[in-house]
Amino acid sequence: MARIADRMNDIKPFHVMALLGRARELEAQGRSIIHMEIGEPDFVTAQPIVDAGIAALQAGQTHYTPTVGLPDLREAISDYYQSHYGVDVPARRIIITPGASGALQLAFNVLINPGEAVVMADPGYPCNRHFVRLNEGQSIAANVDASSNYQLNETILKKYWTDNSVAAMLASPSNPTGTLVGEAELKAMYDFVKKQNGTLVVDEIYHGLVYDTQAKTALAISDDIFVINSFSKYFGMTGWRLGWLVVPDEYVDAVDRLAQNIFLAAPTVAQHAALTAFEPVTIELLNQRRDEFAERRNYLLPALKEIGFDIPIVPDGAFYLYANCEKFSSDSYQFVTELLEQAGVAITPGVDFGSYNASKYVRFAYTTGMDNLKEGIARIKKFLES
Ligand SMILES: Cc1ncc(COP(=O)(O)O)c(C=O)c1O
Repeated sequence: MARIADRMNDIKPFHVMALLGRARELEAQGRSIIHMEIGEPDFVTAQPIVDAGIAALQAGQTHYTPTVGLPDLREAISDYYQSHYGVDVPARRIIITPGASGALQLAFNVLINPGEAVVMADPGYPCNRHFVRLNEGQSIAANVDASSNYQLNETILKKYWTDNSVAAMLASPSNPTGTLVGEAELKAMYDFVKKQNGTLVVDEIYHGLVYDTQAKTALAISDDIFVINSFSKYFGMTGWRLGWLVVPDEYVDAVDRLAQNIFLAAPTVAQHAALTAFEPVTIELLNQRRDEFAERRNYLLPALKEIGFDIPIVPDGAFYLYANCEKFSSDSYQFVTELLEQAGVAITPGVDFGSYNASKYVRFAYTTGMDNLKEGIARIKKFLES
């Protein structure tokens, strides 16, 4: 028998991957499937970024970059913090990583000793608790619901914080709920965590995909916060594997040493391509796509409510709607399976994001065009009526 480390028992798969596999199987049999389960933009990478990637390859940019990333890219991100948020974030504190995933891994590795705990929202992005587990740490799932915008706040954080807690993890906007953490709440949580000698980690990967308001970076509150971001979502570069981590000055050396050992450097071609991501012509294209996501949300949210899903708050961003399906089923996993098999619509069960109320919720991703969303709604309606 293969000898696999014990910690692997706690590393759970995404159920949605099994559903996606089944959806592909049905498609191979000739069935039409509407995909509302996929957590990445349906748009291909914007042309100026693709062109820059091709040009970089043709110019022979195929070697390692410095571990912390291309100096020009770190400067470009620093400039973006200034122009977009009005916040001064020096390039030396910005570390380029293979996706937000690489940034999360670095952050948890430098912050957690075995046995130490991180408080995070349930529902939330499931990989976070696995990163903590891989460091022999403990993740504390704080139950959140619509009453706190599906986010942690100071009161909830205080309730779950333990003597062995060393960090609080937030994502704003969140996956799977699309909700933001309010500015005042963020500041209050930062103050609380600091008082406990802990660290606040904020995942801003869905910044840029925020619709009726302008998201503020946590770095406006203090330099003393770990911030994660990525080229995957707003910048539409999931497959290029590129993100970044902003750390307080005193962590730069440790993160650099760690990254040297874990991945040496982020992909070179992706870094050269990303240099064009901040140019006005690219930003204009990306903002058009953002506006299209907003239109999709504005269609899908009322359409789902009208057929009976309970979505008590309008999510500010990302491309997800987290919907209560209790009216139709007390087992959201079974509901999702039946919806796929009988109606040809793929969505994600709540269990992929934690355990609190997971059997009552499903996640819809509006990462497909308006025609597909309309067809999806028609199919779901017919399924529910039958
Ligand atoms: C909240 C959140 N953080 C991080 C990631 C990882 O993104 P990537 O590694 O593609 O940048 C995702 C991906 O879906 C996510 O939803």
